[in-house]
Amino acid sequence: MAEVNLLARLPKSQRNIQKRTEAQTPENIAISRQYGEAYFDGPREVGYGGYRYDGRWIPIAEDIVRHFKLKPDDRVLDVGCAKGFLVRDLMQVCPGLEAFGLDISEYALMHCEPKVVGRLHLGSADKLPFPDKSFNAVISLNTVHNFERADAVRAVREIERLAPGRGFIQIDSYRTPEQRDLFLSWVLTAKFHDYPAGWLKLFKEAGYTGDWYWTILE
Ligand SMILES: C[S@@+](CC[C@H](N)C(=O)[O-])C[C@H]1O[C@@H](n2cnc3c(N)ncnc32)[C@H](O)[C@@H]1O
Repeated sequence: MAEVNLLARLPKSQRNIQKRTEAQTPENIAISRQYGEAYFDGPREVGYGGYRYDGRWIPIAEDIVRHFKLKPDDRVLDVGCAKGFLVRDLMQVCPGLEAFGLDISEYALMHCEPKVVGRLHLGSADKLPFPDKSFNAVISLNTVHNFERADAVRAVREIERLAPGRGFIQIDSYRTPEQRDLFLSWVLTAKFHDYPAGWLKLFKEAGYTGDWYWTILE
């Protein structure tokens, strides 16, 4: 188990915190939690403000392949894959790799990258429809915090079940009260969040033996 920043080469996204804070209404939060068109391709107030492929995941895919020493015919799953950008890029940087994704959003899957059609499954991260130890690595980026705590434990346990010791989970966190305040003024979908120590306790409860890192607003 190790803390490792596999998203170090991801460009920082532009955030207008004040505008988002004003938009944090119960209605907007409910809309964003539907993970539909508004969340991915609607206004920034309720989500991404346009979730389009631009190649930014290629360096991340390279780092994931290197970290897990993935090779052709290995199987990797991206839990919370959205439109499958990372799945696409994993296969691009490691030709022959069998990459798959799972997401709860039918909208994202229906608007996925053409190259990953047939590789993305509709489902929920807390009940992964795959056999034990069926993947060489399971990645989950910015998804597990969208559950209440008890369900987050289940989701982490599922990742461990599919790829014992070969998981990578990135989730929302904060190291200082100031970072926590900033996070709270931005968040729409996350239902559970905590300082790293709280997440590490959750990982322990789930029996997680993979790797992790934090998404921290600064
Ligand atoms: C912040 S986005 C992250 C997308 C992608 N992993 C990335 O980093 O760009 C969160 C994703 O989690 C998905 N999601 C939310 N709840 C989920 C659940 N219970 N099971 C699977 N996916 C879920 C959403 O549809 C969305 O695609």
